[in-house]
Amino acid sequence: MRGWPPPVLDPQGPFSNTVTTLAWGLMALMGLIFVLVCAAMWVALYGSDGLRAKLGGERVVKWFGLIVPAGVLFLLLVWSMALVSGLTTIRGDELRMRIAGNIYWWRVSYLDAAGREWLADANELHIPVGQAVVIDMVSEDVIHSFWVPKLGGKMDMIPGRTNRLKLQADKPGVYGGQCAEFCGGAHSLMGFVVVAHDAADWQRWLAARQPPASTTAIKPAPVANTEVERGRRLFGEVGCAACHRIAGTSAQGLSGPDLSFVGARRSLGAGILPNNRGTMIGWIGDSQSIKPNNRMPAYRSLSGAELGALAAYMESLK
Ligand code: CUA
Repeated sequence: MRGWPPPVLDPQGPFSNTVTTLAWGLMALMGLIFVLVCAAMWVALYGSDGLRAKLGGERVVKWFGLIVPAGVLFLLLVWSMALVSGLTTIRGDELRMRIAGNIYWWRVSYLDAAGREWLADANELHIPVGQAVVIDMVSEDVIHSFWVPKLGGKMDMIPGRTNRLKLQADKPGVYGGQCAEFCGGAHSLMGFVVVAHDAADWQRWLAARQPPASTTAIKPAPVANTEVERGRRLFGEVGCAACHRIAGTSAQGLSGPDLSFVGARRSLGAGILPNNRGTMIGWIGDSQSIKPNNRMPAYRSLSGAELGALAAYMESLK
């Protein structure tokens, strides 16, 4: 996928900027201390007797073994606390979302000002450029960690807890993210993308996902395209609806990713494949080979034509 793996130390927003500043600051200080220690070692090995005696004296041990390290650590603590305090400060006018870690995908909820979900999606976040987004981070099974290095810090998702993270992008684009806490065998295949829209594009995206639009977008039977119609029927017959939800239909399963807008997603299998007819067919037919031990069974009994019809139906959901 484009933008993969997500590059670190390449901030594209104010919050990741802070993290990068802290990282470079720590590295610079670490470099300085490393040089000083090397110099002291050189003196200890090759210095004159006078210098070596001084280096082994009580004063040097007291100052450089105790007082200076304690002072450096304290200043570092104050500096880093001041720097990162802005990463979790909520002003109240930010956009709100909730993301739930699941084995091995992300449930994405867009929230209104009162904290109610108005749109459900999965594995892809859409945000406007230049606006802070506050995300409630939760987990529905084990500990995961949400990380889009270019847009913000890293935040753990811990069962039974709600952590908060702020993201912001300064430029439109597609930014890669990755689960950053070992959560099982396919942990490294638990990615996602963040799509940052400019103002006009964001309004279009919002308009396309308002509740009335989502029910008209998913056309009730019969539709003009017979392959899509066949896929829609198969979706019910094969049992997909037990785990997946499609807004405006009888498919209301909640244990798997919401598919209401799956056709509009850039990636498939939580950030690991580009989303097109071919990868969708492969995923439905044998997701277990692509992402071992994910919770979706492999539908190896379906024929090529049936997989094609299901993929065509998925493609139509946008
Ligand atoms: Cu989820 Cu690692």
